[in-house]
Amino acid sequence: MPEIRTVAVLGCGLMGSGIAEVSAKAGYTTFVREVDDPLMDKGRAAIEKSLGRAVERKKLDTAERDEISRRLRFTTRLEELGGADIVIEAVTEQIDIKNDLFRKLDSICSASTIFASNTSSLTIAGMAAASGRPDRMVGLHFFNPVPVMKLVEVVRTIATDERVYRDAFEFARSLGKEPVEAKDASGFIVNRLLVPYMLDAIRCLEQGLAGMEDIDKSMTLGTGYPMGPFTLADFVGIDTLYRIAEIMFDEFREPRFAPPPLLKRMVALGYYGRKSRKGFYDYAGEKPVPLALH
Ligand code: 3HC
Repeated sequence: MPEIRTVAVLGCGLMGSGIAEVSAKAGYTTFVREVDDPLMDKGRAAIEKSLGRAVERKKLDTAERDEISRRLRFTTRLEELGGADIVIEAVTEQIDIKNDLFRKLDSICSASTIFASNTSSLTIAGMAAASGRPDRMVGLHFFNPVPVMKLVEVVRTIATDERVYRDAFEFARSLGKEPVEAKDASGFIVNRLLVPYMLDAIRCLEQGLAGMEDIDKSMTLGTGYPMGPFTLADFVGIDTLYRIAEIMFDEFREPRFAPPPLLKRMVALGYYGRKSRKGFYDYAGEKPVPLALH
């Protein structure tokens, strides 16, 4: 096991806040970096809310919650991440932003620091090249909601050092997660299968196969999925799904990864799913109401 004591998480949105929470819960001193104070406060509030819910559900007592909170250090300054043994990037899915961060971190962090990206579909090799330390770069792909979902895909590029890979794998396990090995191909294992499934559901809707609620009901009651494809797409985020589909289509050039027209229209109109309270369903009321989109 590596001497990982200090973790840095870049970005404190949906995924970053979850990763920071599980890291602090696992006992690591965890630095969380956001770009400005309002985003930092929002991220901190999301973690506090999640920890508060864990206390309510008696999964944590208040002393444990306070201990976890003390391990979390919020900052807007990249320079403060210099002491991290592993940096996990969870910022927006834009390759230029990610590359730029890794380029800067290379001169801030120690030569032994492991760099990891939580990207869901971008190529880790590209970030590895930008980082200036390609042998120390891996993918650590978590799933939403991070505190609940047990899986982490641990991704190696053709340049990842085997020892670094094993250290990252054991680190994922130390977070209480179940790691699996994956190669550096867009979408890795889960999104390779899940994204075309959600896109196909949208195409079924576009072609009038069945109504949205009935498609969702079919997959929950007929196959035991916890959420139907439209509920899941709203949960993942319509904008996120669209961006992943575009990236995967660009990588594989296969029609099954191409975003359907309806998805593109929804993004244009700001129907981002649960986070904007409107996606395939309207979340303004007590219960989600399906929208007449097709
Ligand atoms: N944070 C912490 N805990 C949470 C949580 C959150 N955001 N949301 C739910 N939970 C916990 C609850 O506290 C509860 O715990 P308990 O049973 O120990 O008390 C448990 O999860 C179940 O929650 P609920 O009873 O409120 O609700 P459900 O039974 O409906 O479960 C769900 C909610 C876990 C989200 C479930 O619907 C589910 O598994 N959905 C599918 C999620 C999924 O597929 N995620 C992957 C998306 S793809 C992805 O992330 C990859 C990316 O690259 C796109």
